[in-house]
Amino acid sequence: MSVDSFLRAIIRDAVAWDFFYGIINFDGVVGTVNHYGTVDMFAGRYNDAYRKAELDHVENFPTAQIKETFRAMGEDWTNEGFDPFASPAETGSAFGRRHGQNNDKVNQRRIAAKRMVSMPGDEALRSDASGFPINRAFLDVAQDEPTVKAEPGFEGEVQAFNLFAYLSRSQVTWNPSVVSVCKNSLYCPTTEEYILPVIHGNDRYEWFIQLSDEIHWSVEDRDSGAVRARVVMKPGDVAAMPADIRHQGYAPKRAMLLVWENASPDMPELVSSGKLPVVPVQF
Ligand SMILES: [Fe+2]
Repeated sequence: MSVDSFLRAIIRDAVAWDFFYGIINFDGVVGTVNHYGTVDMFAGRYNDAYRKAELDHVENFPTAQIKETFRAMGEDWTNEGFDPFASPAETGSAFGRRHGQNNDKVNQRRIAAKRMVSMPGDEALRSDASGFPINRAFLDVAQDEPTVKAEPGFEGEVQAFNLFAYLSRSQVTWNPSVVSVCKNSLYCPTTEEYILPVIHGNDRYEWFIQLSDEIHWSVEDRDSGAVRARVVMKPGDVAAMPADIRHQGYAPKRAMLLVWENASPDMPELVSSGKLPVVPVQF
């Protein structure tokens, strides 16, 4: 693997996402499966050719152990100036003889609202002053905030914020952050540019709502890697990625995407046992 892709993959997977949902393929061969407490690291397990040749390999680790191992690798192998979450146009190089480190960026905290961004005591809005300037691609995004007039007694309960303004100030790409939580329903918007550095294999379905610009999804069978679809999403398009696929995204220019996740811990079992269909809606 190219070292920049490798670092983007392990640092997202282990450090930022805690191994996320389901499978993270670093490429067509190597990756991890999250069992929510332990993690499989595999080579060839989800690659038809490796499987048929019986060359695939899987090893299971406690989550804390593999997480700290990947973090140590990420810190050690990241050169000064390389930001694994930034778009290629907004970071220094991952290449060259090992020099310096960039631990603040490697360990960049992933935004995870308890209720909703901007609520009292929750994740704060972004501003120039807090170190989040408007991205060069979103200079035309209006920055006004809604006016909230709560009934007396509900001042801490009613809140609203400008999601487009919030996303226009995102410094990271392909790194969904949780901006609102309603039980197991999580809104995880993100900004995307260039190529998603992993191929995400689902253990549940997930909804995509294209908020701006354009993303091309390459969709494959989760287990074999066989090509299933090419999905081009334009502003306002909504797609549900099935629970038996894997996908990688391409954004020709910086785009806003809302990923809507069902974080219910029962979902993988309900889907794999056939109690739930692999798609959330049928037409
Ligand atoms: Fe995904």
